[in-house]
Amino acid sequence: MNKSPKERIEELVKLLNYYNYMYYVENNPVISDYEYDQLYKELVELEEKYPEYRLPDSPTQKVGGAVLEGFRTVEHKIPMLSMDNTYSREELIEFDQRIKRMADVKEVEYVVELKYDGVAVSLHYENGNFILGVTRGDGIKGDDITENLKTIKTLPLKIDYKETLEVRGEVYMRKDDFEKLNKEREKRGEVLFANPRNATAGSLKLLDPKIVAQRNLQIFIYQGFLKDGPETHWEVLEFLKKIGFPVSPYKKLCKNIEEVIEYCDEWQEKRFSLPYNIDGMVVKVNNLNLQKTLGTTTKSPRWAVAYKFPAEQVTTIVKDVIVQVGRTGTLTPVAILEPVFVSGTTVSRATLHNFDEIQRLGLKIGDRVFVEKSGEIIPKVVKVIPEVRTGNEKDVPIPEVCPVCGSKVVKDKEEVAIRCPNIRCPAQVKERIIHFASRDAMNIEGLGEKWVNILVDKGFLTDYGDIYYLKYEDLIRLERMGSKSARNLLDSIEKSKTRPFENLIYALGIRHIGIHASEILAEEFNSIDELKNATFERLSSIHEIGPIMAESIIEFFSNEENLKVIEKLKKAGVKMEKEIKEEKKDILSGLTFVITGTLKNYTRNEIQDYIKKLGGKVTDSVSKKTDYLICGDQPGSKLQKAKSLGIKIITEEEFEELVKSKMK
Ligand code: IVH
Repeated sequence: MNKSPKERIEELVKLLNYYNYMYYVENNPVISDYEYDQLYKELVELEEKYPEYRLPDSPTQKVGGAVLEGFRTVEHKIPMLSMDNTYSREELIEFDQRIKRMADVKEVEYVVELKYDGVAVSLHYENGNFILGVTRGDGIKGDDITENLKTIKTLPLKIDYKETLEVRGEVYMRKDDFEKLNKEREKRGEVLFANPRNATAGSLKLLDPKIVAQRNLQIFIYQGFLKDGPETHWEVLEFLKKIGFPVSPYKKLCKNIEEVIEYCDEWQEKRFSLPYNIDGMVVKVNNLNLQKTLGTTTKSPRWAVAYKFPAEQVTTIVKDVIVQVGRTGTLTPVAILEPVFVSGTTVSRATLHNFDEIQRLGLKIGDRVFVEKSGEIIPKVVKVIPEVRTGNEKDVPIPEVCPVCGSKVVKDKEEVAIRCPNIRCPAQVKERIIHFASRDAMNIEGLGEKWVNILVDKGFLTDYGDIYYLKYEDLIRLERMGSKSARNLLDSIEKSKTRPFENLIYALGIRHIGIHASEILAEEFNSIDELKNATFERLSSIHEIGPIMAESIIEFFSNEENLKVIEKLKKAGVKMEKEIKEEKKDILSGLTFVITGTLKNYTRNEIQDYIKKLGGKVTDSVSKKTDYLICGDQPGSKLQKAKSLGIKIITEEEFEELVKSKMK
């Protein structure tokens, strides 16, 4: 069915506004720039033809983007426009011809710069001092992110120029810093950034400049508004460099559009050798008077254009699709590729994320596909080419059983993931043990992937509890395990028994509980037993612990297998409670407690041990010497006795409060 122009305009406005929102506000683009530009062009053409249907909220009527919450809003004195995109040399030639026609000149000089793939900012200086830095926002007004910008080492806080000055530039993150950041985030169980641009935008939005400082952001300045300054953009850049701004050395003054095209081609080849991402080149009219004459549209200047590189895509064959089983049992399909060179590296694998993605792509084994590696670290399959099928391609089977242990798989209600529910699945067991021993968890040096695989395969480890029962005689018999490594391994296993409580919680490998959540839980709870017995209400009322995490904790501790492993750890002497600092060891000294009834969070032995550890005394019967009666469910006769003697009667929660207040 064909849509009427009016309907299509409405549809395009809705779509493009959504894409803009995802791009600017969520930093989570859902279509490529190229596709966006095609739809945008279609809308412009329709609106020109049918101006009566033009909508007030059409993206053609705005500069684009939106303002974030949480920072002071500042209006731009000069709007921060966007730029028209071109994708071919033909379009660049058209751009050149249009300018020549409008300005009525034979030849135009251009400056060609790299198009940094980061976040645009405007910087204000007064009396040589940096006084204000603002995001682009919606182009009319942006956010005051001065404090965050001050953390950028290459941004000069003082310059050698006393006039009021505004310059603009691009904040970006280097590729190596991006990878480091994502690795750390992975360890902490946090969501990964898709690419360095998103990481930059995310960092500039942080409300704590101290964290921003750790992100090692960079900046290049590409524009300056100088009073009575030079006559050309090239000279402006030279001047900005001279007074202390970081201006990229990679730029060229071109006599004509042919030189421009040549320089663009050169960088299309070389771009991957840079330590940061660029997504194209920017071509600017050099003469500032000519820039003024050409002026701007509501959206972009007529004197500049972006030449966007096609995201590097190559085609190759999917030889197979294998299924990996993670620590929590998630089955992830991975495409095994005919090795192919793309964006500077050879790739032979690409993630397919999940089985819905395979369906969305319509992928079969043996298919020729487009693979892309743009900014992201892990390459992805972007498109199947069904036209070149031979007929020998095979459907990718959706696993009904786990490829490692053969258990029937389950599909979570809300998730797209397929999971192996068998907690004893060797793949899961290995991943869980590797996680348990990792640095942020129990930090058992020498127990990495290689040895875990061997120890599980040989039957020495069936869960992480077994780690503490490994014997020297067993280890020494393994191939390539010398007596020294065996002793070192046992030493670091022993050392791990006193890991801080938060690392222990993290090590258990509870779904959705990363190291940050573990730290929060360790603040709130004193021991594993207390955490184990916590109700959903209590857990989800903790700041930063959401219902999904709370549910996951409950699920973890209601699993018999998990409880058995915890018992194993306890028996082996692994510390499963909060460290009681030396100076806190006597906070209950001089106090005598009696316990009656059933407690929620402790067994009798547990609470007795705990009180003793804090210097208190526990007796069996109530007397005048008793300070507190801790009263649980269905108390015995001790309650009556305490009442008659006028002894303080407290609940379990009140006892915990008492301890907490004394700990401070
Ligand atoms: S000049 C609007 N120069 O590209 C014209 N912009 O699509 C003034 N960008 O948000 C911009 N590298 O952040 C200019 N060398 C460069 C650039 C550059 C990246 C970004 C800029 C802007 C976007 C426009």
